[in-house]
Amino acid sequence: MPNKIINVKARTSKVDVNKIKTDLLVVGVFSDSNSRGKAVEGVDKALGGWIKKVIKTGDFKAEAGETTLLYGDGKIGAVRVLLTGLGKKKKADLDVLRKAVKSAASKALEIKAKNVCIAAGVELADKFDRDDIDKATVESAFLGAYKYDELITFDKDNKRPGSVEFIIAGGKASAVSAGSKIGKAQQWARTLANRPANLLYPGSLASEARKMAKSISNLSCSVMSEKQLKDKKFGGMIAIGQGSKNPPRLIHLKYSPGNVKAKTPVLGLVGKAITFDSGGISIKPSSGMHEMKMDMGGGAAMLGTIRAVAELKLPIKVHGIICSAENMPGSSSIRPGDVVTTYSKKTVEIQNTDAEGRMVMSDGIHFAKEHKCDIIIDAATLTGACVVALGKYYAGVMSNDDELSEQICEAGKVSGEKFWPLPCGDEYLEEMKSEVADLKNIGSRWGGACTAGAFLRQFAGEDVKWAHLDIAGPGMYDPSTKSGFGSQGFGVRALTEFVKNLTKK
Ligand code: BES
Ligand code: ZN
Ligand code: ZN
Repeated sequence: MPNKIINVKARTSKVDVNKIKTDLLVVGVFSDSNSRGKAVEGVDKALGGWIKKVIKTGDFKAEAGETTLLYGDGKIGAVRVLLTGLGKKKKADLDVLRKAVKSAASKALEIKAKNVCIAAGVELADKFDRDDIDKATVESAFLGAYKYDELITFDKDNKRPGSVEFIIAGGKASAVSAGSKIGKAQQWARTLANRPANLLYPGSLASEARKMAKSISNLSCSVMSEKQLKDKKFGGMIAIGQGSKNPPRLIHLKYSPGNVKAKTPVLGLVGKAITFDSGGISIKPSSGMHEMKMDMGGGAAMLGTIRAVAELKLPIKVHGIICSAENMPGSSSIRPGDVVTTYSKKTVEIQNTDAEGRMVMSDGIHFAKEHKCDIIIDAATLTGACVVALGKYYAGVMSNDDELSEQICEAGKVSGEKFWPLPCGDEYLEEMKSEVADLKNIGSRWGGACTAGAFLRQFAGEDVKWAHLDIAGPGMYDPSTKSGFGSQGFGVRALTEFVKNLTKK
């Protein structure tokens, strides 16, 4: 790639925020005047009351997400001061802080700051645990300071620094370090998903996974080629990949640290990585088809999660199974009406080649079962129907275990990535029965997320705890881009939180 994505770093500092030498000092301001925090009061005093002045004029109302730029003017160590609104103190939670830090970090990119001091989280120190504040701050800085520009030609007008450093005022080093690992992993997932399909195809995705695994201890990666997949009868993977000159790959990552407790479950993370989904013979309409380069968001989320889990050295055994193929139309493509024997031996009648994700995922889930996973979680940009149901902000969770579904929703709430439960029971399965095979790959017009979930449930069975995350909405949505489309690496933060909770039991 011509450019490297801007390198984000984070550290803590105990230096007085008024004295710290920085390109940009970020402070958090509550909208209720009687709740102004300590840091902001101190900076305001040093600046000669300018913060109060912009509030008094009404130019800055300190509403959640709002920002205003002021200048240090030699009165403090910072060249600029960014006021970020935290809204009413009573309502201010970690999501409000995330929003504020994210917009501050994108402002930092805009002004080409190399060094940014964040003193916003400190204002919430009496409401939340310092660890949670620092982790949320750092993860949001990584999110906001990201721009997918690895293919843009830089010249003197648009060149940018190679790195930006965030200094978390009064932060805890351990939390900042954990947040950085998760933030980095999420950025990586994001870049993989944003990278166009001519540059990122199953083979190159496998190389990226291999390279990552090599750099981290206790993590190994093996990749199955098309020939191996054929020999081992991964029928779903082969069927979907056969129409493309870029052959499919099954990427198998194994994280196996030495210090795992006997009662900690073995976890399987299965990800859909269709590097381009044209729909195949049931071809998609041309408008918006380019977005389907991100149909590997589930696979990217699982790669990012396993990277974060391994870098955090969490004591748990994890299998990462990434099912990667390119869904293309051609003379060797799978046709509507064809019957495929999947890896599990269940036969599936293809009625629509655009319902390809569930075909590759059924092989991946069966493979996870063979590896004796106690819990299997799959993530996929699986259905447009899930986006219709929940929009861009929530992912759907379908599961054979209510407790597991709740644990995922809870991890989502804590980490800032949201999930909502959807059903996937027998009613939906009825619609997936075929006259010529065990199953067919589409249901009726209605409830498409749930029929897809019921289909996958057949491969997980009922003896293993399984959850399916349909991330089609938040997996392809990035509000920081002009078009609104792009990857935010959705899933990495929530799943890392979920895995961390598993190790605590
Ligand atoms: N990758 C798509 C799902 C998708 C659609 C994600 C829109 C994000 C935005 C998936 O492979 C697909 O095409 N699903 C079909 C299923 C249908 C044929 C049963 C869909 O949702 O239309
Ligand atoms: Zn499709
Ligand atoms: Zn797809």
